[in-house]
Amino acid sequence: MTDRITRRNFTRLLGLSASAVALPAAGATASSPVHEGVPPSREFPGGFLWGTATSAYQIEGATEEAGRGPSIWDTFSRVKKNTYTGENGDVADDEFHRYREDIAIMQELGVKAYQFSVAWPRIFPTGTGAQNPQGWDFYDRMLDALLKAGIEPFCTLYHWDMPQALMAVGGWQSADVARAFADYSAVAARHLGDRVKNFITMSEITTFVDEGYRYGSDAPGLKLSAGEVAQVTHNVLLGHALGVQAVRANARAGTRVGIADNAVSTCPVIETPEHINAARTAYREENARVLTVIHEGRYTELYLKNLGADAPKFTAEELKIISTPLDFIGLNIYEPTWVRADDKTASGYEVLDLPKSYPKMAAGWLQLGPRGMYWSPKYLHELWGVKEIYITENGAASWDVPTKSGEVLDVDRVFFLRSYLTSLQRVVSEGVPVKGYFLWSLMDNYEWSDGYPMRFGITYVDFKTQKRTVKLSGEFYKEVIARNALA
Ligand code: FCB
Repeated sequence: MTDRITRRNFTRLLGLSASAVALPAAGATASSPVHEGVPPSREFPGGFLWGTATSAYQIEGATEEAGRGPSIWDTFSRVKKNTYTGENGDVADDEFHRYREDIAIMQELGVKAYQFSVAWPRIFPTGTGAQNPQGWDFYDRMLDALLKAGIEPFCTLYHWDMPQALMAVGGWQSADVARAFADYSAVAARHLGDRVKNFITMSEITTFVDEGYRYGSDAPGLKLSAGEVAQVTHNVLLGHALGVQAVRANARAGTRVGIADNAVSTCPVIETPEHINAARTAYREENARVLTVIHEGRYTELYLKNLGADAPKFTAEELKIISTPLDFIGLNIYEPTWVRADDKTASGYEVLDLPKSYPKMAAGWLQLGPRGMYWSPKYLHELWGVKEIYITENGAASWDVPTKSGEVLDVDRVFFLRSYLTSLQRVVSEGVPVKGYFLWSLMDNYEWSDGYPMRFGITYVDFKTQKRTVKLSGEFYKEVIARNALA
């Protein structure tokens, strides 16, 4: 299991680019709010939005209930060899029936925002055509309970579970699917816009394109050529931007829309001006496929040159659409990319390979790199003047095992979170406009082709009984939120 080559390993291999007891903070007295007396070097700005994140296919289950149509993940995970011991999302966290319990956990932890995704096949069981009202019923009930608990929803429209029917035209291989996504986005904005103020079009374009269409390690399991993959990426970008426009045209005034991108987090090997500059240049080039084209309205010369004959076909009009301005950028921050200055390369930088002994969490791809939480938002802000940033995902994979008394003492995850949050506090304190942080994940869930043993939650889920137990990391996060400061 540990040796399984998981989705992000492929990308790297190919070289593409507190304790449960709330202790008062130093200086705080027993009667003062706990955050008083926290040194400014540990505080976050007032109103910082502390959240948790999940996605539909990973938690909902009920894949054949209430008129939901099949998704590409249902189909993909039916083929036993595709996922860890053939595991699938048929039941997952049974969230379709247990959302109230999980909202109560968020409330208990003091969580202020929740990023969830809508399952496209619940709304459009066959991808296009008639909406399924029962699909909306579920999200209506869930959102009402969430708002009642005082938790702000952030709604992702596409977190990888495309209606299977759209594979008839090749999924994202077809620009028709970009238009179908825009139609779905319009409907979602109309239906949810009275309660959802923040929409995210898509989660991690490069992950679902590379793993799903290049390596076949995720749904839909295709292994396309480099040229075809470049075209798929282009179609997805178009879908994203048409989705943005559809949300704007259909939601209420003041609705905000962004993207969740797993940007390559380039970090200077040593914090000297030359390496810092090189890692900034690298940020722009290594993110040419998504962030750069969205912000600059063109693919970089190096990106097109490297692809050569495999470069995507596009029109000037499409690039204009793709660069539709966003209200915020979401960054999913996990592993780092270490960069040093190098005048001998055309780009002026070198991306370093990681030594075998480089520390990682349970997921082979999850190399430790808290510095990415500092440099990625910083470069994003410096390069394109982005005014509003959210960390839309960050979290740690562990092989959690409950103690005899049923506690889950995941000190490894606490260590991970504290390190990344320290870098987040650093970048925010320098005035980089990161407005909130969504911890992946509220609870253990279906980790795609790695199945259920790979746990990312701050709440432990016993998948036999569906019993939830808040882990030590959950208590830690509760303390961070209460203090609005590092704990
Ligand atoms: C991200 C995915 C999310 C989850 C975490 C661990 O890349 O967006 O669904 O799998 O990784």
